[in-house]
Amino acid sequence: MLLGVNIDHIAVLREARKVADPDPLDALSICKRAGADQITIHLREDRRHMQDSDAKSIIALSSLPVNLECATSLEMIDIACTLKPHRVTLVPEKREEVTTEGGLAVTGEQPKLKEAIKKLQAQEIEVSLFIDPSLDAVKASIDLGVEWIEFHTGKYANIYAMLYTNLSKTHHTIPELDLSRKILKQMLADELCNLRLLSCDALEFGLRVAAGHGLNMQNVADIVAIESIEELNIGQSIVARSVYVGLEHAIIDMKAKLLR
Ligand code: PXP
Repeated sequence: MLLGVNIDHIAVLREARKVADPDPLDALSICKRAGADQITIHLREDRRHMQDSDAKSIIALSSLPVNLECATSLEMIDIACTLKPHRVTLVPEKREEVTTEGGLAVTGEQPKLKEAIKKLQAQEIEVSLFIDPSLDAVKASIDLGVEWIEFHTGKYANIYAMLYTNLSKTHHTIPELDLSRKILKQMLADELCNLRLLSCDALEFGLRVAAGHGLNMQNVADIVAIESIEELNIGQSIVARSVYVGLEHAIIDMKAKLLR
């Protein structure tokens, strides 16, 4: 299974001080040496971590394919068309969110998305849509003619954390529920089943399937077991572990979890 390493959090650390280091560019050779298959970066509209100069130099200098995540705004699509990464993953963005909280609204936004996808594909950039695992979103993605979809695994990761870590059972994503372990186990099984069925459907219709968000060394195994998912994009947990074990080891360890 392919591993895209999202290196945004290296820039998060730099931007916390507005200094020059750590420079995400320095991560490229380490990611490659450790066996990463792709570099993933998110150029957010508010530039809270990656800056335009980072995106430019990473795309120009990376020997691994670069997957640029960005919003569907005209500004971002124009930047992507100029920088020409290997792939663009279109993601929803809200300025007030801490991280990408859900998938793209693919069903209501067809004309705007079509236009963005057309522009990117005209530059021979592969396009992926970051979507919630729902049948409507998969169908809409097929209609939109993209090469890839990436399932948002945040719900899976949150349920897993509620079951197997100290995270409060009344985590903000499901605030009104005080959930028993039995119910949480069923919810986790249902979410995995949903991801499995939808990835199979998507693959049958010719889409390539990625997944990501909230995946870590503990919760990744059940996602790896879904054969139709070809690639995972993982950021926060790899960079977090790298503080203790180093980036190279954090990637090597995660890549080992992705072996099938
Ligand atoms: N994939 C996409 C499209 C993302 O936007 C992100 C970051 O939210 C990730 C993967 C990686 O998520 P994480 O940092 O939680 O591993």
